[in-house]
Amino acid sequence: MQATLAPIPAHVPEHLVYDFDPTNDPLLHRDPHISATALHRIAPRLFYTRHNGGQWVVTHAADALEILRDPERFSSDPKNNWFNAQRKPRTVPNQYDPPEHTSFRKILNPMFSPGAMARIADDVRAMAVELIEEVLPKGGCEFISEIGQRFPVYIFLKLVDTPRELAPDLLARVEKFVRGVDGATKLQGLAEVGAYIVTALEERRRKPGTDLLSKLLEAKVDGERPLTQGELEGAGTLLFLGGLDTVTSTLSFIMNYLGQHPEQYARLVNDPGLIGSGVEELLRVHGGANFERAATQDIDFNGVKIAKGDRLNFISQVYGLDPEIIENPFEINLDREISPHLIFGAGPHRCLGSHLARIEIRIFLEEWTRRITQFRVEGDVPTKGGIVWSPEYLNLRWNAPG
Ligand code: HEM
Repeated sequence: MQATLAPIPAHVPEHLVYDFDPTNDPLLHRDPHISATALHRIAPRLFYTRHNGGQWVVTHAADALEILRDPERFSSDPKNNWFNAQRKPRTVPNQYDPPEHTSFRKILNPMFSPGAMARIADDVRAMAVELIEEVLPKGGCEFISEIGQRFPVYIFLKLVDTPRELAPDLLARVEKFVRGVDGATKLQGLAEVGAYIVTALEERRRKPGTDLLSKLLEAKVDGERPLTQGELEGAGTLLFLGGLDTVTSTLSFIMNYLGQHPEQYARLVNDPGLIGSGVEELLRVHGGANFERAATQDIDFNGVKIAKGDRLNFISQVYGLDPEIIENPFEINLDREISPHLIFGAGPHRCLGSHLARIEIRIFLEEWTRRITQFRVEGDVPTKGGIVWSPEYLNLRWNAPG
């Protein structure tokens, strides 16, 4: 089905218009990471696409950094972005600009600090072991449904102290939002996740605990007032959504890569100490989240005229492959000392859950390499677009023990 294309605004010159859909482009379907960097060669550095309601696409890391560090001119507030204004609930903190955003981050940062995440490492490990041991004797699995999706949702449910039986229902709601076939389905999915959070908040009000939602209910914005019902719902919704599909996608792409590169995988098996530093290099190439900003005023951005209200899209996976910031970007070198990337974004909105994501992926690889010394990918690995790119399915095979 041909998506409706937005008209080209009068201030956008023809040579800066490029036909590319960041959430569903055939180029990205070939390989959402490597082929996206073709944009560096074939498209203008900052170009306007008529897809997705019409928006600019930022292809280079330096430009992305400059914009993401400038929330005054490039806002995350839906009041500046007609497209995001339709989304309910308004999520906290990503849809707020400083100074409100800063107040919310002060509440949330301690809940996701490296120290707090280190304290849940044992739970994360136990879940990784359980999921791997479930598939181990079969000698193969469809990684996305059997592990990739379940692992982060189980961890979230642990963080909010909720029984696992809810996982399939919650995943169905998330799927609607992240990959709904049209805007209405996506909005419906988001509203359904919000509805679950409202119910869970009600339960915590009645019976407070030490979980994440109970902490949100106790929190005071700037030490003065509790979060409003809308803010609680928005924060709970994002804490839930932010860490699901992103982790499924990145972990699955990493497993796809390792299954297809046995020599690199053997290095991790033979030297588990390499996993910690190697994860950063694997992350550099395997992010896949799209996110947006909108201009709060008319801006001359390095010679490009951006008008107030214009939306900008960031395809986060391409920045770690930008030859301007890294030598030999396509070489995945597990010994690289610094692996620059923006898969967690940058500036004030830099991913709150990056420490958790790193722990999840590192621990998962530690446990997988310990049990499965060789594995391979079987068949094609088609990808699904959307707000987060992900393999649609990923069949892995290994020799079952004994
Ligand atoms: C590999 C996994 C992950 C990736 C690739 C990823 C990616 C991102 C990106 C690109 C942003 C910036 C969005 C923007 O600037 O508008 C972000 C923000 C955020 N992420 Fe993650 N994320 C991951 C894991 C997680 C996890 C596990 C959580 C757990 C709660 C999480 C929660 C959040 C939240 C709450 C924000 C909003 C931060 C703010 O606006 O201040 N993410 N993430």
